[in-house]
Amino acid sequence: MKEITIRQPDEWHAHLREKDLMLKVISLFNIYGRVVCMGNLTDPIDNLKKIIAYRNKLVCLSNFLPIIGAMLTKNSTLEEWTKITDLLYGRIFIKYIPKGVTTNSELGIAWPELKNFYSILELAQAKKIPFLIHAEIDKNPKTKKSISEINRERAAIPFVKELARTFPNLIINIEHVSTEAMVKLIKAHKNLSGSISPNHLIHRYEDVFDEQGKLVNVHGYFKPVAKTKTDQHAIIEAALSGDPKFFFGSDSAPHLQTDKENFKRAGAFNALTNLSFLCEFFADHQAIEKFEPFISEYGAKRYGFPLNQEVIRLQRQYWQVPSIYRGIVPDLAGKTMEWKIVE
Ligand code: NCD
Ligand code: ZN
Repeated sequence: MKEITIRQPDEWHAHLREKDLMLKVISLFNIYGRVVCMGNLTDPIDNLKKIIAYRNKLVCLSNFLPIIGAMLTKNSTLEEWTKITDLLYGRIFIKYIPKGVTTNSELGIAWPELKNFYSILELAQAKKIPFLIHAEIDKNPKTKKSISEINRERAAIPFVKELARTFPNLIINIEHVSTEAMVKLIKAHKNLSGSISPNHLIHRYEDVFDEQGKLVNVHGYFKPVAKTKTDQHAIIEAALSGDPKFFFGSDSAPHLQTDKENFKRAGAFNALTNLSFLCEFFADHQAIEKFEPFISEYGAKRYGFPLNQEVIRLQRQYWQVPSIYRGIVPDLAGKTMEWKIVE
């Protein structure tokens, strides 16, 4: 096989950032039909005014349809979300990052307090607005003891279960699924689905942390952290399975090289390689027929959008991932990729 033509894909989880960093990366996303742009900016996108301002910038600078992953924060009210959903249906999703678990989540709500915001989830359920969860917890709510990074997704499972039971008709998506346990939970609940980032197909915990759990490879550091071989295999299996509950969302999260190296920021910038990598991944597993639905169909169907009508083409053409891209170290820097997007 030398060339493959597929329906234009959607990108269901990306950090487009703001200001200079946004200008460096935004054009890479024009290949997609829709892009979920996460609102975890320094000043989180959590009200109507901020959503409109951020979305306008994205529209102005791109060809894709931006869907804002608007943040559920301590400042969120039912009144504000009623306005947001009335005016922006189809252009916003709700993103829940529990307080303190990742970049710019200080205004987030801790899992035990999420109950106080259930009226907003009821609204989302009634209006069919997807609720996207960063499913990790960093501290035991009772003892306040810190939970090690490798266990944070597993520790969030009881909270996700409770949500799935409380809101049987809410469209709940678990972002960047990273454990076997979460794959199982998703399969067991009809209102749960999961997006898969190439990060968790490619990387393993031991490539990033040493035996004492110390971070040794900052460029392989993203959240949720890469997990064990067993977890990685469960994610690979879910991606290859053709189960429409699992679909692509890259979690491309650029940080400048200096920020990453000096401040150990979590986030992999994988936007240069995602489609090439996934094409090779599905081809190597003799499952190329599952590539197109995984990146271009399952997510749209799950979230109630029509499928894109354009196509894109990839050719079997070797190319090398640059060691640096506009001041950002890309994931897979220096590696040779087998497939190239030609249009
Ligand atoms: C993301 C970021 O930097 O915004 N980082 C990451 O490691 N994935 C936030 C997130 O999605 O956790
Ligand atoms: Zn993310």
